[in-house]
Amino acid sequence: MNIAIIGAGTMGSGIAQVAATADCKVKLYDTKPEALQESEQALTKILNRLIEKERIDQEEKNRIQSNIAYIESLKDLADADLTIEAIVENLDIKQKVFQELETYQSDEAIIASNTSSLSIASIASCLQKPERCIGIHFFNPAPLMPLVEIIPAVQTSEEVFQKVFSTIQNWKKVPVKAKDTPGFIVNRVARPFYGEALRIYEESYAGLPEGETGFATIDWVMKQIGGFRMGPFQLMDFIGNDVNYTVTETVFKAFYYDPRYKPSFTQKRHAEAGYLGRKSGRGFYNYAEDAKKVSPIKDAVMGEKIFNRILVMLINEAADALFLNIATAKDIDLAMTKGVNYPKGLLAWANEKGIDWCVDQMDELYELYREDRYRCSPLLRQMKANSETFQNL
Ligand code: NAI
Repeated sequence: MNIAIIGAGTMGSGIAQVAATADCKVKLYDTKPEALQESEQALTKILNRLIEKERIDQEEKNRIQSNIAYIESLKDLADADLTIEAIVENLDIKQKVFQELETYQSDEAIIASNTSSLSIASIASCLQKPERCIGIHFFNPAPLMPLVEIIPAVQTSEEVFQKVFSTIQNWKKVPVKAKDTPGFIVNRVARPFYGEALRIYEESYAGLPEGETGFATIDWVMKQIGGFRMGPFQLMDFIGNDVNYTVTETVFKAFYYDPRYKPSFTQKRHAEAGYLGRKSGRGFYNYAEDAKKVSPIKDAVMGEKIFNRILVMLINEAADALFLNIATAKDIDLAMTKGVNYPKGLLAWANEKGIDWCVDQMDELYELYREDRYRCSPLLRQMKANSETFQNL
């Protein structure tokens, strides 16, 4: 299968590596020659490291490298069966590239976008044949994260969806089908991991102190009690407060200002101050070499309260995604374990904690705050009334 990748940045380079490893012929195109050069050099480094770790041998490295051609003209992508675009997150620019590409390619060629926040329907609408367009959303780093969200637009043909789904399976990835709605599955369901942690911090909930000790305590709770690999503040510092804040704001606006997705002033102020996270040397934490190490408050009662509140908000979000047919129960759980390394699927977690417990926790929060943010998903409420649990996970 001939694959074309447009954009040789973080995502495009990773996707090219995945396709080339699965023995597809890949053409990687970028408007900036230096981006192509950097991508080629980065791949050599990655493959050398894999040789050092004895994951691949020299022959495999040569095979992967020879499968990728670095291309400086869009016209040269004419023979691609599947094109995946991973350029700047801007609808106008994406549409211009797609319109030009369509004039070079055959009618059967599939044109996909790796967009995180634009609607696939809006991208597809610029094409003569919008039924050939689909979302294929990888996670960073693409060669390591198994999950790929496949997002058919309202215009996408079933045949295109099926072809893409089986291609991604052949690439040894875990494809899940998601509805074309803001954040798809992962970037929607994961919002409370950041948003509720920030809210808890702002409230000094359960006696949390301000400053780094507060952040460190929430992070400690989520890792120690929850089994998450990283705490919310560590993760926001890793992603970048500017990037994470923008995603939150985009999702908030896209959901017509549903208070559940409301961005946080704490994060906005950190981004405004230039406290972007690891990349700027300071975020919620100070990464300077001589910075004082902060210790969390390891209080079991406080920890339990914080953990339960973040967990139930995540479960509620996952249940609502199922309620609104964003994806199947199985795919919602796979998305969170294979896309962002959650220790358990959230719906399986709901079963474990008990549906009654989830509803009671949500109602307790709603009772206290009287905010729409804390409304319990109707699905959980129905399930409680019928003594049901989540099935087919
Ligand atoms: P990036 O900034 O690392 O790379 C973008 C590349 O596209 C650059 O090399 C740039 O020169 C090139 N480019 C820009 N305009 C172009 C054009 N008209 N034609 C050809 N090449 C062009 O960006 P990144 O992070 O790889 O993101 C790309 C896309 O993937 C975005 O739509 C983003 O929303 C999405 N995405 C990003 C993730 C991430 O964690 N970085 C995760 C999943 C999706």
